[in-house]
Amino acid sequence: MTATTTTNTTVAVAGGTKGLGLTIAEALAIHGKHNVVILSRKSTPSLDEKLPARLVVVDYDNVQNLTEALEENKVSDVICTINAYGSSLPERNLIRAAENSSTTKRFIPSIFAGFAYPTKLVSRGRQIQNRGARGTGEDILIHTAVYNGMFMDFYGSPLLKSNVGFFPMFVDIANNVAAKPGSGDQAVVLTRVLDIARFVVRILDLAVWPKESYFIGDRVTIHDFVNMAEEARGTKFRITYDSKEELEAGQVTELPCYETTFAVVGKEMTKQLFAQTGLWIIGNELDLRPVSTLNETFPDIKTMTLRRFLELSWKV
Ligand SMILES: NC(=O)c1ccc[n+]([C@@H]2O[C@H](COP(=O)([O-])OP(=O)(O)OC[C@H]3O[C@@H](n4cnc5c(N)ncnc54)[C@H](OP(=O)(O)O)[C@@H]3O)[C@@H](O)[C@H]2O)c1
Repeated sequence: MTATTTTNTTVAVAGGTKGLGLTIAEALAIHGKHNVVILSRKSTPSLDEKLPARLVVVDYDNVQNLTEALEENKVSDVICTINAYGSSLPERNLIRAAENSSTTKRFIPSIFAGFAYPTKLVSRGRQIQNRGARGTGEDILIHTAVYNGMFMDFYGSPLLKSNVGFFPMFVDIANNVAAKPGSGDQAVVLTRVLDIARFVVRILDLAVWPKESYFIGDRVTIHDFVNMAEEARGTKFRITYDSKEELEAGQVTELPCYETTFAVVGKEMTKQLFAQTGLWIIGNELDLRPVSTLNETFPDIKTMTLRRFLELSWKV
């Protein structure tokens, strides 16, 4: 995949060797408007040649090394998709380097969240504003925090290719079972990873970046989600309900699809995460309701509905 560039700006996708970052790098390469580099901790020649952009090896522990990498590659924009599982240090160092770099002006932090982060956790986007190492006014690193809902791809099958692995919660489509948090009447926002990449590429075209960028792939209740999955599979699912009290006690119905995560992450930690997510759903926190969305700014981006996604993934 070769990018035909029409501007001299270089966009760096940190963590673009897999997952969302790889999808964004692929979309940027097809878009063809920017030079693109992928920042990674390591080079593996057999894998690197399959990447959609040139790989630049960086040391996230070394701000000087990161700054030089940004300046040497004339990076104007950094899209950070690092997923360091609990450690924010690599991203914080990259933010510091972007602030130091004479060529770098804009930064998208690795948020891409399903709920409005600032209300629950210290936003990584805020780290940029709070640190203020680069001064104030025009000198500050321009940034936008992206909120996209849950990754729809977590509910796919190998029939619909994605760079993101399966990670279904509450609806186990492969095994025709579901465990609805609460009544199942609360809505969640889900967006296909390819659609997230499309919006992120278009954000680069905006002259002024909003502090927060929201976009919505689809919005469905868990109840309707299960109905759509049943229709795609052509069979009724076995359904259980996990009450608020059960979830508060860390109890979740153990669906067969959780076994893989139990094996990797540990059963208790996984159940805690899923119980917490169930409580967020009951509290309507995964039903993003922003004042405005990038869907309105870019009406030509037609996002994939969950119904279509499930049909393409599961209807045979
Ligand atoms: N809304 C949702 O439902 C949802 C779901 C999942 C993820 N997310 C968010 O989406 C973003 C991307 O997630 P993802 O699942 O696509 O990521 P991922 O594929 O798990 O990882 C992305 C990259 O992170 C880099 N990385 C991992 N550990 C690192 C470390 N210790 N230091 C530096 N780099 C490290 C790796 O790059 P190298 O090995 O090449 O260095 C890897 O390619 C994250 O912000 C995540 O929180 C959102």
